[in-house]
This record gives sequence, C-alpha cells and structure tokens, in this order.
Amino acid sequence: MTAKTIVVGNFKGGVGKTKVSVMTSWEYANVHNKKVLLVDMDPQGNASTLIARSAGITEISKTIFDGFQEGNLENVILNVNENLDLIPAAVSFKNFSKFLYQNFKTDLEQITLLKRLLDPLKEHYDYIFIDVPPTISDYSDNAMMASDYVLIILQAQELSLEGAETYVSYLQFMHDEYQAEIQVLGVLPVLLRAGGRVDQTTVERATELFGEDNVFSNVIKHLERLKAWDVTGIKNDDHHDRKAHQTFLDVVDEMEEKLARFEEEETNV
Ligand SMILES: Nc1ncnc2c1ncn2[C@@H]1O[C@H](COP(=O)(O)OP(=O)(O)OP(=O)(O)O)[C@@H](O)[C@H]1O
Ligand SMILES: [Mg+2]
Repeated sequence: MTAKTIVVGNFKGGVGKTKVSVMTSWEYANVHNKKVLLVDMDPQGNASTLIARSAGITEISKTIFDGFQEGNLENVILNVNENLDLIPAAVSFKNFSKFLYQNFKTDLEQITLLKRLLDPLKEHYDYIFIDVPPTISDYSDNAMMASDYVLIILQAQELSLEGAETYVSYLQFMHDEYQAEIQVLGVLPVLLRAGGRVDQTTVERATELFGEDNVFSNVIKHLERLKAWDVTGIKNDDHHDRKAHQTFLDVVDEMEEKLARFEEEETNV
C-alpha cells in the first residue's frame, strides 16, 4: 500500500480546515477501516487537541517538531486507535522556519523536508491527511510539496472565493517554481454561520473557476454539534452526533469517487 496524501487547504482562517481534516481522517479510519495518518502541521495544534480529547489521550510527549529535529517522524507517531495514527503538533513548532533556515541551504530543501520524512511512512497507510495553518508559510509549502492532492475548502456563504482563489494561484506558483505535482481533489463548500445557506452565486463562480466536476455536491452545513465536539471530543451518542458523522461520511464517499476517477485517468495515460 502507498498512502494517498491529501492536504486540506484555504488561505483564510477559521473556515473549517481542521474540522474537515480531522473528521475525514476519523471516518476513514473508524468506519471505513482504512489505515490513516493525520499530520498536524499547525503549531496551534487544534487537530491534535481534538483527536486527543476524543480518544481520551491526556499526555502527548513527542511532537512533530521533535521528529523534524531528529530527521525521522516515525518515533513521534501517536497511535490513537486501531486504524488511526496522529503526528501531533504543539506551540514549540513555531520555530520551524528558523530550524529550516539554519539546517538547509536551498529553498527546495527547506520546503521538501516533510515530503522526505513522510515518504518512508507511506507504505503503512491508505491515507495521510495534513492539516495546515491558514498562512502562506513554510508549513503550507511543506504540506503542498508532500501531498498528492489538495481538498480546497470553500467558505460557501461569505460571497467570497478569496481564500480558495489565493490557494489556486499559489498552487500554480508552486508548480511553476518547484514542480509541485499536487492535484485539486475537489472544492468542498463549508457553511460556518448558523442559518446560512449555500450561496448559489458563489457555487456558480466556484464551478466556473474549478470546473463542474471539481466542486463537491455534498456541503458541510453549519452544525452546532461540531462546535460542541471541540469541548467534549468527538461523540456518537445521539442523533445530533450521528447527523454530524453522516455529513462527513457522505464527503468521504464523494472523495472516494473522485480519487477513483483520478486513478482511472492515470491508468489511461
Ligand atoms: N460545519 C461547522 N459547523 C459549525 N461550526 C463549525 C463547523 N466547522 C467548523 N466549525 C467551528 O468553527 C471553528 C473553526 O473551525 P476550524 O478550526 O476547523 O477552522 P480552521 O480553518 O482550521 O481554522 P484555522 O485557520 O484557525 O486553522 C471551530 O470552533 C469549529 O468547531
Ligand atoms: Mg485549523
């Protein structure tokens, strides 16, 4: 097995990137029985906190930055449950850029460190998801260079494609400058505001920009329960929990269809 590596991206803060990367990882591992590694490339460590809380993990001893410093990520993998592993992040990771500049000479060496260290782990997983901060930075560059696909989050009700559009220009730049070979897996609309609805104009513009096939027909609706899980951890106790899980299970199904299409195209080439 060689993991398909997927980064969840948008250069805007608080649009649901972390929720999507955690929940798709969770459903793939715990419902679809896939081997999943979630890599937290954000010094805020939101994904790590949510996973730890959900799995009753109270202590994280080693984090991703230890792995980068040791030149090996294998020893910092935290086994969450049977199918899910996490490479956790903590605030110490804020010194990543300084570390890269002190230890690697060229741009290319600096932005491909994650790729070099993830490659040997890929044989152990079906999927690797990477959660990144909302900045154009060494974190996002490293994630981009290490990934096969990007799942772009579209903030659906803000009448704004801004974060998603910037992401696409940046993909193009990284391709031209560093031959990044990342493909757009799809654009996933997320509704963060209560009572919001998917704005048709935004979705139409997204369809024009990304192509009809690339915009997910599933939408992540605003669900209070998803917010509650920040405090309680991910649950599956009542119908609100089940509804929240179903939202992401539908997204996972659509991701599978899209991935299968990419594979088909590849074998036809
Ligand atoms: N579909 C949703 N419905 C309701 N609340 C949501 C939804 N998705 C995410 N949230 C909440 O919105 C907040 C931001 O979400 P999240 O942390 O996933 O965004 P992010 O894009 O990763 O943010 P950052 O840019 O800071 O990394 C969190 O409190 C989260 O629980
Ligand atoms: Mg986040």
